[in-house]
Amino acid sequence: MAGKRVRKAVLPVAGLGTRVLPGAKTTPKNLLNVVDRPILSYVVEEARAAGIEHFVFIVGRGQGAIEDYFDSIPEIENALEAKGKVDILADVRRDLPKQAGEMSFIRQMAPLGLGHAVWCARDVIGDEPFAVMLPDMLMAATPPALAQAVAAYDRTGGNIVVVEPAPEGETHKYGIVALDGQDGRLNRMTGMVEKPPLGTEPSNLFISGRYILQPDIFEILETQPRGAGGEIQLTDGMATLMKRQDFHALEYEGTTYDCGDKIGLLRANVAFALARPDLADDARAAIKALL
Ligand code: G1P
Repeated sequence: MAGKRVRKAVLPVAGLGTRVLPGAKTTPKNLLNVVDRPILSYVVEEARAAGIEHFVFIVGRGQGAIEDYFDSIPEIENALEAKGKVDILADVRRDLPKQAGEMSFIRQMAPLGLGHAVWCARDVIGDEPFAVMLPDMLMAATPPALAQAVAAYDRTGGNIVVVEPAPEGETHKYGIVALDGQDGRLNRMTGMVEKPPLGTEPSNLFISGRYILQPDIFEILETQPRGAGGEIQLTDGMATLMKRQDFHALEYEGTTYDCGDKIGLLRANVAFALARPDLADDARAAIKALL
């Protein structure tokens, strides 16, 4: 059913990280650690598991550390090598591009919204379907969330939006989808709305941060008027594209941690430490002692 393979992912990382300041003042929020790796490390790993070959980071001012993270730092690598710390050296190298030219960094010169951030990637994406991953939404899932989305895309073609039930009373904080009936986890969408006022939401399913989109979205985003919060919203652009292309919502199997939020980041740290065979026992003992 699907056409071209999904090879590229857009990762909008330019946000200010308002809810995790001052930690995110000089360290981009997506470089904050979950256990011993930055949030972005998990998201890049998730993307690779879904077959992504090219990463397009949409960055803002002061976020040069993101580019540096995905480059070699010989001082660190040489020191680790000299000391024989091979495990740490492997960890330090795990997120590096497999070959040069695998990552692009694009400056979003003003924070005009998610739709604008995605539009900034148009020339690098070109004329092929692509993934969008909101990195502060960390997803623990087997298979990984984006791989689930790609599998859905292989069945339906068109556009895929990963969704999940919103916590009670929180639909107004998210993009919310409307479905054409619900049968299993993959359903045709009939609408979507960004941050609907409470009581007007078309369902309780929120857009949780993984998308597969057709490149036709770019020409729509180019002239997309500002929407909720005065921002150029990706949801509004997708709603326009839905008038001429299919959209399916995939309720993925897994757990999402909103790492742009203090408690979400804390939950991710606890959950990911408990899921690590080398740390689980010590983590459990440490948490127990605190309680
Ligand atoms: C963005 C999207 C929204 C989505 C949310 C998930 O909103 O616009 O549709 O539900 O991410 O985190 P933001 O969190 O940037 O306000």
